[in-house]
Amino acid sequence: MTSVVILYYSRNGATQRLADAIAEGVTSAGGEAVLRSTGHGSNAVSDRDLEVENSDIENCDALILGSPTRFGHMASSLQKFWEGTSREWLQGALTDKPGAVFTSSSSLHGGQESTLLTLALPLIHHGMMLVGIPYSEPALHQTQSGGSPYGASHHEHSNKLTEHERQCAIALGKRVTNFASKLSS
Ligand SMILES: Cc1cc2nc3c(=O)[nH]c(=O)nc-3n(C[C@H](O)[C@H](O)[C@H](O)COP(=O)(O)O)c2cc1C
Repeated sequence: MTSVVILYYSRNGATQRLADAIAEGVTSAGGEAVLRSTGHGSNAVSDRDLEVENSDIENCDALILGSPTRFGHMASSLQKFWEGTSREWLQGALTDKPGAVFTSSSSLHGGQESTLLTLALPLIHHGMMLVGIPYSEPALHQTQSGGSPYGASHHEHSNKLTEHERQCAIALGKRVTNFASKLSS
């Protein structure tokens, strides 16, 4: 079964809502969604899922990385994790695997796109093939909140995803899984 790691940090649950919708997309495409988090011990809701280990990135077929928007880029616990992956980088543990990104923010124009693009940088350094959301996904045309060609996103104006945000997140999980399955077959 195609194993897709969804690696994220979420203090209060908004980014976790996206992680769960992406996991739904992975599962609906026949993959195994492996939810992993960073920053354990800070009382974050993402403590629900096991803390990521470096072996997780070696063993996966694809990886989807998500963070709350923090002053326009990723949360520090995620950055800290990537700074401990030199060995996996040298070994090419993620090279040629599909990767994708997601974020949540409290204001609509508060930096979602810069966070998505900067989340992509460690994945590209690790040799991953970046997967976005194509405009063939109807929700991307219709959304009045989150959802971007660069990745899934959520504008946290209520305590749930809008239907369009959810559709974009599911589409991203499916697309990454489909690519990973084709590559490993
Ligand atoms: C230190 C800090 C910096 C933040 N920076 C931004 C920001 O630049 N733009 C924005 O719209 N929201 C910002 N936020 C709000 C969070 O991105 C937003 O509440 C997010 O949805 C939280 O996700 P979570 O519930 O998964 O923790 C910031 C929050 C914190 C604590």
